[in-house]
Amino acid sequence: MREVKVSLFGFGNVGRAVARVLVEKGRLFRERYGVSLKVVSIADTSGVVWLPEGIDLRGALLIKETFGRLSSWTNDYEVYNFTPEEAVREIDADVIVDVTNDRNAHSWHLTALREGRAIVTSNKPPLAFHYAELMGEAEKRGIPYLFEATVMAGTPIIGLLRENLLGDTVERIEVVLNATTTFILSRMEMGLEFEGALRQAQKLGIAERDPSGDILGIDAGYKATILHCVAFEPITFNEVNVKGIAEITRGEVQRARAKGKTIRLIATVERGEVTVRPMEVPLGSPLAVESHENAAVIWTDLLGKMVVKGAGAGPKETVSGVVSDIMKASLKLKAG
Ligand SMILES: NC(=O)c1ccc[n+]([C@@H]2O[C@H](COP(=O)([O-])OP(=O)(O)OC[C@H]3O[C@@H](n4cnc5c(N)ncnc54)[C@H](OP(=O)(O)O)[C@@H]3O)[C@@H](O)[C@H]2O)c1
Repeated sequence: MREVKVSLFGFGNVGRAVARVLVEKGRLFRERYGVSLKVVSIADTSGVVWLPEGIDLRGALLIKETFGRLSSWTNDYEVYNFTPEEAVREIDADVIVDVTNDRNAHSWHLTALREGRAIVTSNKPPLAFHYAELMGEAEKRGIPYLFEATVMAGTPIIGLLRENLLGDTVERIEVVLNATTTFILSRMEMGLEFEGALRQAQKLGIAERDPSGDILGIDAGYKATILHCVAFEPITFNEVNVKGIAEITRGEVQRARAKGKTIRLIATVERGEVTVRPMEVPLGSPLAVESHENAAVIWTDLLGKMVVKGAGAGPKETVSGVVSDIMKASLKLKAG
């Protein structure tokens, strides 16, 4: 049995869902993979709880859910005021899991890689702006840097492009990458104006209070950037052409519907060119997704056309990608 020490950064929706899965499935992972995961630290913005012997995850969940901050756990644990840079240096961990929304996390990702620690992340901006530097550092040191959950949550498009299709040349990807915009456009098809559909999405917790990242196409743009980096070559989000759905009217949506089409926010990813924009797609197209699904149509020279479709958001669905990456990193460490 190989014990793998995990440092968890971020204890929000995804971080807590990761902890729940590790509690529920830890035994299964030991039996299936011969890997025992020990969470030695958990960080939120209030502080870092650190215990080399391993943290009681049920207790951490209870504290966070009751008090909203890990730093309230002073009875049983030492709470440290480390910056993430200090934490990745000080804490002896094999795998760093970044499920924060820290836009500047690339700097502590680099520090962690230089300390020899594997990284698993669902956080998009580090990759969308610093892919080449991060992957360069990881490859130079032979350390896993894994990010399945940054694109399409747990639906394994990154693994497919990075680990399969190794003999193929990808020619083009067309993909729906943002479920909030799909929800808003669907509601507009049912008769709501953009503002009303957005308000409904916010009420249901589908759109954030500041919805600009979704409706301006930035979230889809980050993900499309990452897909380009994996399928073709490193670029940054600054090179991507992005137009969101904020200017779409109910009339446009309904006219498309009358022609047997639907408007979706589509990213088109080709070598050297990434665009995100609302487009009409036929109702029978794999890209005419509903609800929280994402879908990608990938064309390659050998395989022709293939479709990847599945959940694109949600804490549990995101954990599918995060935990799969934790196991991949752990198995690599186990193999030495
Ligand atoms: N939710 C999804 O469906 C989904 C899907 C794919 C990818 N993602 C990505 O996964 C990440 C987490 O999403 P989420 O929904 O869990 O977000 P969230 O609920 O807002 O949680 C973010 C967590 O990160 C913590 N945090 C922020 N900066 C930190 C720092 N410098 N050091 C330590 N902790 C820090 C926050 O601390 P506090 O608790 O103290 O605020 C919070 O616990 C985001 O990058 C998101 O884009 C999410």
